[in-house]
Amino acid sequence: MTIAFMWAEAKDHVIGAAGQLPWHLPADMQHFKTVTQQQIVVMGRRTYASIGKALPNRTNIVLSHQAKPTVAPSVLVMHQRQEVLTYAHAHPQQETIVIGGAQIFSLFKTDVTKLYVTRIHAKFSGDTYMPALDWTTFTRQWQQVGQVDEKNHYPYVFECYQRKSI
Ligand SMILES: NC(=O)c1ccc[n+]([C@@H]2O[C@H](COP(=O)([O-])OP(=O)(O)OC[C@H]3O[C@@H](n4cnc5c(N)ncnc54)[C@H](OP(=O)(O)O)[C@@H]3O)[C@@H](O)[C@H]2O)c1
Repeated sequence: MTIAFMWAEAKDHVIGAAGQLPWHLPADMQHFKTVTQQQIVVMGRRTYASIGKALPNRTNIVLSHQAKPTVAPSVLVMHQRQEVLTYAHAHPQQETIVIGGAQIFSLFKTDVTKLYVTRIHAKFSGDTYMPALDWTTFTRQWQQVGQVDEKNHYPYVFECYQRKSI
């Protein structure tokens, strides 16, 4: 079973502003789509609201304290961390990828064994930040420098880390 995190952060760990992503970076959207395809994605109710629909070709899990939050019929609503871990355990052939936001990353901090991070080398004002992780327990597996072009204006790097075995 793999519990992964996938996120993009700018300088000072900014990940969100006013319920949305602070940047427009289509190459990162494409990377997100490629990595999460056919996998299980887990998100907080606010992140789901900002996306506004279930992500196609993926099992979508939305965490909420509400009994019946407004979500698409295909979405699995869960209410507790343990419910997600049990589901992930029952589907070991897929990666369970936590896609945010900050509240949900905090919730799974001790469970995560793999990190997909996009580092955007630009400054944005924001109101949501990536929680601190214990980076000493992770090793970088790969890194790919993104291409700056007419559609992707900021320098960015895709990275993947694996939790060191203990
Ligand atoms: N840059 C990135 O990679 C990235 C990724 C994802 C999101 N974001 C950004 O981050 C922001 C949203 O993040 P956020 O931290 O405000 O919200 P969030 O984590 O997406 O969602 C928070 C909601 O999740 C539910 N929740 C939280 N803890 C829970 C628990 N223990 N059990 C059950 N449900 C729980 C609650 O829903 P209820 O209120 O329904 O109870 C809570 O309001 C947006 O700006 C978004 O664009 C950025």
